[in-house]
Amino acid sequence: MKQSLTLASKMAQNSVKQTPRELFAIAPMVDISDRFFRYFMRYLTPNAFLYTEMLNEHAIIHKKDRYSLLSFSDNQHPVVCQIGGNNPEKMATAAKIVEEYGYDEVNINCGCPSSKTRDGCFGAVLMFDAKLVAEMTRTMMKAVNIPVTVKCRLGVDNLDKYEDVHNFIRIVSHEGGVQKFIIHARKCLLNGLSPHENRTVPELKYDWVFRLKQDFPDLRFVINGGFTDPAKISDILNEDNGLEGCMVGRLAYNFPWNLAAIDRQLFKHDKDTLTREQIILSYAEFAQKEQETGLDRGERIPNSLLVKPVINIFSGEYEGGKFRKFLSELAIDKGYKGQVERVLRESIEYYKNINPEGVQTKNGEKIIRPIWQLQGYAKHKQAIIDNQE
Ligand SMILES: Cc1cc2nc3c(=O)[nH]c(=O)nc-3n(C[C@H](O)[C@H](O)[C@H](O)COP(=O)(O)O)c2cc1C
Repeated sequence: MKQSLTLASKMAQNSVKQTPRELFAIAPMVDISDRFFRYFMRYLTPNAFLYTEMLNEHAIIHKKDRYSLLSFSDNQHPVVCQIGGNNPEKMATAAKIVEEYGYDEVNINCGCPSSKTRDGCFGAVLMFDAKLVAEMTRTMMKAVNIPVTVKCRLGVDNLDKYEDVHNFIRIVSHEGGVQKFIIHARKCLLNGLSPHENRTVPELKYDWVFRLKQDFPDLRFVINGGFTDPAKISDILNEDNGLEGCMVGRLAYNFPWNLAAIDRQLFKHDKDTLTREQIILSYAEFAQKEQETGLDRGERIPNSLLVKPVINIFSGEYEGGKFRKFLSELAIDKGYKGQVERVLRESIEYYKNINPEGVQTKNGEKIIRPIWQLQGYAKHKQAIIDNQE
């Protein structure tokens, strides 16, 4: 009795003590959303929720170098740690550690279809067992005071009718106390499609997410999947659909400069961002310090890892590909080992000569070039530019 009262009060607390509205979020992405990427994202979007990549429950509990896995700089709040796992007790232990590190929320991955997660019985497989997910979230909520949330798909394999996802949300919210769901708005197939195909092939069904909100008006739903056009993000959030917010993944990695414009538009602020030159130089200083003091898997952090968040900063911009190529090559040049700041400085100097005005724009704005200057670009590059502007 005592235990259930404690749980009831924790669950009530979990629903009351919520983080602010998650209007915009940068998705968890394995091998991308590390602390360097999130640090860099903050220059572009001061307001988005930032997610870690999925961290395995086992790694959180047992990894010797837990600090390099979980630590993050203060500027990253609100920051959410995503955990992959299926054992309620271990998930609760991992969530407790995550809370102690200062994360604002803990999120369970119920949407990853990779063979690794499938074989380990976590990720999207968990959508087959809503009761287990509810048991996990209940156990986690007993252990922590930060909100416990779930990221899932609209379905898995043949569990793909609207009633199935409705049922999943009902059980995980009613029995598991979860108040906020991030929905990647397509189903996935555990066999027959690669993780990449599972992000592109199954049809996007945003209307199902709207329907979930209608059916569960008290729950918070963040919509995710396929947002490549910044205008569409504000459109969908301006519609009268009650959504909590919108999460983007590939847009943030492939076209990060767009985030600056999206942030201003969604949060209706007119604070100028830094120019891209200023951002890169400031990030370069941070990266150099990390390289001198931090470790990655027990080794000095390589240039390639530290420059990864920056490589696409001029995507969709005049000759942005040249910046990417120059930076990537310099990062693996042996002569630059341990000198990430120099790599970044020289790369921005190089690109400044190609696109001096572009480097100086602020707020996600791009220089629109007359068509004759774009001659020599492959047609698909032109299409990307058209799309982004
Ligand atoms: C490289 C990559 C890694 C990903 N890793 C994760 C992950 O760790 N956890 C997760 O929930 N989703 C992961 N996803 C899925 C994204 O979070 C997101 O749901 C998906 O990319 C759809 O959003 P988008 O169309 O805006 O990219 C990953 C996606 C990509 C492209």
